[in-house]
Amino acid sequence: MEFKFTEDNFKRVEESISKYPHKRAAIMPVLYIAQEQNGFISGEVMLEVAKILEITPEDVLGVVTFYTMYHQHPVGKYHIQVCTNISCMLKGGYEIYRRVKNKLGIDNMQVTPDSLFSLEEVECMGSCGTAPMLAVNEDYYENLTNESTDQIIESLKNNN
Ligand code: FES
Repeated sequence: MEFKFTEDNFKRVEESISKYPHKRAAIMPVLYIAQEQNGFISGEVMLEVAKILEITPEDVLGVVTFYTMYHQHPVGKYHIQVCTNISCMLKGGYEIYRRVKNKLGIDNMQVTPDSLFSLEEVECMGSCGTAPMLAVNEDYYENLTNESTDQIIESLKNNN
């Protein structure tokens, strides 16, 4: 299905572009606006972003696949990213990952049937000093223990 920015979002896109000397430099904020509108970065979104920024779809794909903040598939209301890279792994990151997986009953890159949660195992999120960590959408939770991990999931469930 074709993707077009809403009128308001297109204004935001233009504002973002105007802050840079070259259109292509606005790729990150433009993708962010697209993801906010569409929920994830589909192939159609990438085509539209490429067209607007006058770059190739491959250029867009390169950015989308490099940064964990962009999702290529639909995600839940709470997208949980658990880091299992070296620092987190050494401090129990896999245990945290397995715990979240079991609590939610979903696997990597899956969404719960009620669309409330999705799970993703990710590489370093730049919070190695406070490993192990996970992110829920844009919020980081650090120095995790089994107990604090359970509490995070429970409080998100209770928020709904
Ligand atoms: S290794 Fe997990 S945040 Fe860096």
